[in-house]
Amino acid sequence: MILILDFGSQYTQLIARRVREARAYSEIHPYHLPVEKIRALQPRGIILSGGPASLYETGAPDIADEALGLGCPVLGICYGMYVIARHLGAHSAGAAAREYGPATLTIDENDPLFAGLEAREQRVWMSHGDRVERIPAELCPIAHTDNSPYAAVRSRDGRLRGIQFHPEVAHTPNGAQILRNFVLGICGEAGDWTMAGFVETKLAEIRNRVGPRDRVLMALSGGVDSSVAAALIHRAIGDRLRCVFVDTGLLRAGERARMERTFAGELGIPLRIADAADLFLERLAGVLDPEQKRRIIGHAFIDVFEREAAAIGGARFLGQGTLYPDVIESVSFKGPSATIKSHHNVGGLPERMRLELIEPLRELFKDEVRAAGRELGLGSDAVDREPFPGPGLAVRIVGEVTRERLELLRRADAIVIEEIAAAGLGRRLWQAFGVLLPLKTVGVMGDGRSYESVIALRAVESQDGMTADWARLDPDFLARLSSRITNETRGVNRVVYDITSKPPATIEWE
Ligand code: XMP
Repeated sequence: MILILDFGSQYTQLIARRVREARAYSEIHPYHLPVEKIRALQPRGIILSGGPASLYETGAPDIADEALGLGCPVLGICYGMYVIARHLGAHSAGAAAREYGPATLTIDENDPLFAGLEAREQRVWMSHGDRVERIPAELCPIAHTDNSPYAAVRSRDGRLRGIQFHPEVAHTPNGAQILRNFVLGICGEAGDWTMAGFVETKLAEIRNRVGPRDRVLMALSGGVDSSVAAALIHRAIGDRLRCVFVDTGLLRAGERARMERTFAGELGIPLRIADAADLFLERLAGVLDPEQKRRIIGHAFIDVFEREAAAIGGARFLGQGTLYPDVIESVSFKGPSATIKSHHNVGGLPERMRLELIEPLRELFKDEVRAAGRELGLGSDAVDREPFPGPGLAVRIVGEVTRERLELLRRADAIVIEEIAAAGLGRRLWQAFGVLLPLKTVGVMGDGRSYESVIALRAVESQDGMTADWARLDPDFLARLSSRITNETRGVNRVVYDITSKPPATIEWE
């Protein structure tokens, strides 16, 4: 494996992605990971990420000397390069001109890092304020830019390398090749990491951990992550996995039937369905505040799940579809980001029920989870679906959630689902859905006045849900949606389209 030590760069996850694209397994850990732990991971190579710190700050983040002396090749990127240089006794200085943006790198030496790059001049992306001013005798320059005499350096023994530019970003067109050269050429990784291999390893791990009399419980949300995790655990231990799907009454049209079809039908995994709509609606009655709705739903979910789990009988483990970005968020030295919305999850469950966690996807990124799902035989229906928030339609009904409002939104939203699928827009859009607004407006239908509800359409494009832009959908397509929704949904006489990006808005309305 390739170990990435994170100094807090916003691009650290991209480094991990690029390494995996070279078919080598990589993990991100905080820069202060103790040396014994680094040794235990037996990395073939180490990458030191960039970071926001300046070398001139007191207490600037650093690693132990031993971490650089483990014997495996090390590549320092930007701040990571200064770390290497400083360990070897370098001086750095504030650059005369700070470099942010594109630069031309001139390769001065045929280092294996640059293998296969045809031109001596390469476009690279810079983002730094410091630069290495004088390098110690142990390092030699292998490339420069106009502003940085030492834009890439190598130690005399060939084990340590540093580059000032960022090879992990798309703006460095040959950056992926440079990282591949490091991982395969310099570290000697075989480049044979595949999803099929990953799935096999996880199956063996789960079988080793779960004894013949143990049971694993899982709460399915309908989302990709928990579905793939369940399929994987089921492949490993069969019916010692027990799955519960809580029908909160806050689902989109057809969701429950789809879950039954996929699990009980295609995958042969029995699904216990808890009909809990009454309970959720009772507890939500009269509640308007979005955060309060989210908390109520989170608690109700745990109560229902606990009740269902008791009916199934004892279990030792709880399966969860935790992904790598969630893990990084909690281990990164930057710490979890500020809470904008309390995401609904079953986080409280393991402690309350004294369950140990099984999280077979915690090393994977979202698109890798999709690949794992395909490997396990899940259809596109289950694997390529759009994200759906845990609190469901409750956060798409602005204000109080009632049975009538749910029915109205579900009917209008079903038309959105249908039309998006018919137009083949699913792949382009991150999400597309309807939102019910808590107001009525005047309309004219036939010869009469109407005074009815408003549906807002939300369709966004996004890479990861952290930022998003509203989709520039074809006006004729929007016209068709509007006309179908107002004609086919009794109680709706107006449709509006949300043209706000995130930020400043969020994707969901609550
Ligand atoms: P926002 O509204 O914060 O949403 O821009 C970003 C993405 O997260 C989804 N979302 C949730 N997912 N539990 C989830 O699993 C939640 O409570 C939740 N709230 C929002 C949202 O659909 C979007 O894709």
